[in-house]
Amino acid sequence: MISGRAHPLKGPNRFKLGVFSANADGGLAITDVPERWRASWDDNLNAAGIADRAGLEFLLPIARWRGFGGKNRVREHSFETFTWAAGLASATRNIGLFMTVHVPLVHPLYAAKALATVDHISGGRAGLNIVCGWNPDEFAMFGVKLGDDAYGQAREWIDIVDRCYGTRQPFDFEGVYYNLKGVVSRPASVQAPRPVTMNAAFGPPGRDFAAQNCDFLFSTFSELEDGHKHVADIKERSAKVGREVGIYTVCHVVCRETQAEAEDYYHKYAVTDADHAAVDYHMASKKEFANSHDKRVFDSYRKRFAGGAGTFPLVGTPEKIVETMAAISAQGYAGAALTFVNYTYELPFFCDRVLPLMKQAGLRLT
Ligand SMILES: Cc1cc2nc3c(=O)[nH]c(=O)nc-3n(C[C@H](O)[C@H](O)[C@H](O)COP(=O)(O)O)c2cc1C
Repeated sequence: MISGRAHPLKGPNRFKLGVFSANADGGLAITDVPERWRASWDDNLNAAGIADRAGLEFLLPIARWRGFGGKNRVREHSFETFTWAAGLASATRNIGLFMTVHVPLVHPLYAAKALATVDHISGGRAGLNIVCGWNPDEFAMFGVKLGDDAYGQAREWIDIVDRCYGTRQPFDFEGVYYNLKGVVSRPASVQAPRPVTMNAAFGPPGRDFAAQNCDFLFSTFSELEDGHKHVADIKERSAKVGREVGIYTVCHVVCRETQAEAEDYYHKYAVTDADHAAVDYHMASKKEFANSHDKRVFDSYRKRFAGGAGTFPLVGTPEKIVETMAAISAQGYAGAALTFVNYTYELPFFCDRVLPLMKQAGLRLT
């Protein structure tokens, strides 16, 4: 139990680190290399243990109900995120545990109770990643259409979660999306008034939602030197409502002893041995339905989609990776969620070699 201690995302490290998407087949990669991530429960336990022992701040799962097809039906296998976090809450000691929830697919009362349950099991280490989703094929499995006002629904959704924790008195809720009668939800979360929240978004409505309602925004950038523009935009949106929001990004990592080794492997898994049909599906549907990246990324960076779903690459020696993370930090980002082709093979080298250099660079204390 760490009740009474601050959530790891509120800890002292200047550049915080997490592990993203270990709950899903492939992680964030779309590749056919034999060592690709299978995301078995043992894989998840091992990866979570390495990250927890190394003092990383958080584990962030992807919410995925349907895969992207291709040779390996990548992401079709993925663990549901509340139950995944509950399992890992018992198996870890210090690391923050996010749950990723699609607002249109999960009722806020269910989410409030499940989130509070994980917060109790973990002694206050739970976190909520609110996403509105982008894949109409995935939503069709639920009989739900992608809405035009997803963040309008998200506002009501988070309001309901807050009220669940904030009162013991039964309450009614009348909104556009929810009409609820006599709501109670006990227990409240251990963290008060609620567990830390983040929103993963890119476009203006998502940024405004995060600015108004969340502790953190997770967002992508395509060119490092443009990062500060995104940060400034988000900070301006949150300052307008008198709030401060921490901004994180996502990176896929290939860290090796030499630069050539890292680049060769990146080329192999993300170009030569990419699962090309799945990359095509993912890129085409993201381009059409998700406002998740700068549009030019789709034209220039196919490798980044195979490598890590369009996120920013950290490829090279430990020194090079720390240099790039320092540059990301200098753009105003508070941290990054990281992905690897195979988390259990690659995290130990990353933790052993990169974390001490981050300490030397003043990015982390521990
Ligand atoms: C860090 C990060 C994590 C995300 N995780 C998920 C996820 O687990 N499931 C999902 O359907 N979408 C996920 N998304 C995509 C968002 O749901 C959203 O569609 C996308 O960021 C587009 O942004 P917008 O909502 O501003 O249009 C993620 C995005 C980011 C940046």
